[in-house]
Parts: sequence; C-alpha cells; structure tokens
Amino acid sequence: MKKIAVLPGDGVGQEVTAEAVKILDTISGKYEHNFEYEYALVGGTAVDERGAALPQETLNLCRKSDAILFGAAGGPKWDNLPSSQRVERALATIRKELDLYVNLRPMKVRPALAPVIPVKKEIIGDGLDFVVIRELTGGLYYGEPRGIFEKADGKRKGVNTLVYNDYEVERVSRVAFELARTRSKKVTSVAKENMMESSRLWRDVITEVGKDYPDVELNHILIDAATYHLIRNPIQFDVIVTTNIFGDILTDEAAALVGSLGLCPSASYGASKQGLYEPIHGTAPDIEGQGIANPIGAILSAALLLQHSFDMEKEAEEIEQAVENVIEKGYRTADIAQAGKKTVNTEEMGELISTELLDN
Ligand code: IPM
Ligand code: MN
Repeated sequence: MKKIAVLPGDGVGQEVTAEAVKILDTISGKYEHNFEYEYALVGGTAVDERGAALPQETLNLCRKSDAILFGAAGGPKWDNLPSSQRVERALATIRKELDLYVNLRPMKVRPALAPVIPVKKEIIGDGLDFVVIRELTGGLYYGEPRGIFEKADGKRKGVNTLVYNDYEVERVSRVAFELARTRSKKVTSVAKENMMESSRLWRDVITEVGKDYPDVELNHILIDAATYHLIRNPIQFDVIVTTNIFGDILTDEAAALVGSLGLCPSASYGASKQGLYEPIHGTAPDIEGQGIANPIGAILSAALLLQHSFDMEKEAEEIEQAVENVIEKGYRTADIAQAGKKTVNTEEMGELISTELLDN
C-alpha cells in the first residue's frame, strides 16, 4: 500500500489536482496498485478554516506519506497577510522541513503545439527536451536576516539574504551530473558569479564535483545570458542546474517555450524516495472556478510521482504517452487553444487522458 497526501490548496490547484487523482485512480485500477489518499488543507484555504497556512496536521501527514500531490497555494484574498504568514511560505516550509532540496522540472516541447509556441519553429526544432534542476531549500528564499525593518530615521528597508553552503551546492549538483549521465552527458550551471559571492561558491563547488564526472561536459553561464540563450538557442541545453530563485524564474520562461505554464510538471525530492509533486503554475486567480485550467501539468506531476517515489516507470511512461496522444488527436484546453482544434475544459481533458490510458 502506498500512501499519498493530497494537498489541492487554493484556486485552480483544487481543479487540476482532482484530475491528477483521477489519473492515479485509473492507473491503480489498471495495474491493481493500492494507493491510499489522505487529503489535507494548505494555503489560503487552510488560513480560512484552520487559521494557519500550514496546519500542524498537514505537515505531519506530509511527513508520514510516501508522496505528496500538491496543487497550488496563494491568491489575492490572502495577499495582505504579514509576510511571516504569507500562504506561499507554507509550501516553502514543507520543502524545507522534508529536505526536498531537488526540484526537477522537465521541459518537453510537443511538436503538435508549435502553433501556440511564441518562438519560431526552427528555434525549438522537432522535439526540444531539457530538464531544469532547481535547488529548492537554500538561497534567497531562506537566508537570514530577512524582513522589513524600520530604521532609526523612521524609514524602512526590506532585506533578504542570499546564502549558499558548499554542501547544498554539492548535493544538488550531483543529482544534475547523475541525471546527465542518463541523457546527453551535458550539464549547464547557471549563476551570477560576476557579481555575487554565493554564485562564485556555486560555480567553484560544481566545478569541483564535476571532476567526479569526467564523462559529463560542464558549462557555466550567467543567469542574464541564460535567459537570452533560452529564447535564442534553447537546443544547446540538456540538463540545467541552478539556484532557487534563478530556477524559479528560468522555468517560467522555459514554460513559454513548451507552450503554456499549464503543461509543466515538477518533482521535489531529497535523499529518499519521498517527494512532493506539483504543477509549476500557481493558483491562476483570473480563471479560478471556471473549470477551464489545464490539468496536464498536474497529471504529468502525478506521472513523476509514480516514477520517482514508487519506481513505477512503465505506468509513468503510459501517462506521458496518453497526454501526447490526446494532444495529437487535437484536444486543447483554453491556454493552448488553436483554431481548428477542439477546446475542452479541465474535467474533459482529465477524462480524455484517462480514457486514453484505458484504451492502450
Ligand atoms: C514555484 C512557485 C513558488 C516558488 C511559490 C508559490 C512560493 O512560484 O514553485 O515555482 O516561488 O517557489
Ligand atoms: Mn515559480
């Protein structure tokens, strides 16, 4: 029996997570797996019902589960909470408490979506496919001191601190090198070492770790240049490894190359098989409650869950194939709508992928 904590959270998180669970159900029925789901509150929904964005029982449930399926947290309704109670901090705390220091974000371009991708076809080629490994429990999101402070003259200052310890860089870079060995044996490290000491350490440590992987080519590129090359010539990338904040920014940019934020999944994990799986999009307040969000990012996150936490490679691959087939057949959610293709809603997209799984 495998225990999955389901934390739909806020906004469209609720809508897309329901479809991801539907797909897990389809898989467990087909393969006779035994998945046990337990739901818990997180984010603004938890603030409203429990008075805290991350209730203790939610964190406890995460700790004792084999895997966590996460939707999204946040929304305008809770934007005015003091910064220590911001609902996004709930997610940051789970990541930190469970030591999920790796955030893997596969970026795969499906040629059928070329018309909705805002760069020329030549730029994405016929199957751009790279992975961003974002360090997830260090850097600017966690450094101390942090806060908004009042100064002696009555004026205020906002402070965040960017710290990287050598061991934090080492462990995440090993994940990148190991992954590169299963792909094109190429790692690109992204930092800002021309201006920041934390990035100089980042570069030094990765270079050092790279000596253990002489078969893997290591390149360094500055974050500003990386954002440029990602649009000009993304085909040069295979495994990108970068810091928490740069990975956050770079993967939203990369999602534009894929066609939509709604298509992109992520896996967060540490030294064990336990992991948290979430689409990289947020709560999307502009379309919340309309039932039109794209569930594919959440569904592909469920596939990553099966692959990483449960070693169910075949099942994960089937989900990816089913998504591929449904796109090939011309079904689109609103974010990737195309003239001449059929626009479906969140539930219909989940249903189509589920049917595809049962038919194959
Ligand atoms: C992400 C999100 C989160 C982050 C927010 C919701 C805290 O943008 O996972 O990319 O910044 O890490
Ligand atoms: Mn983000």
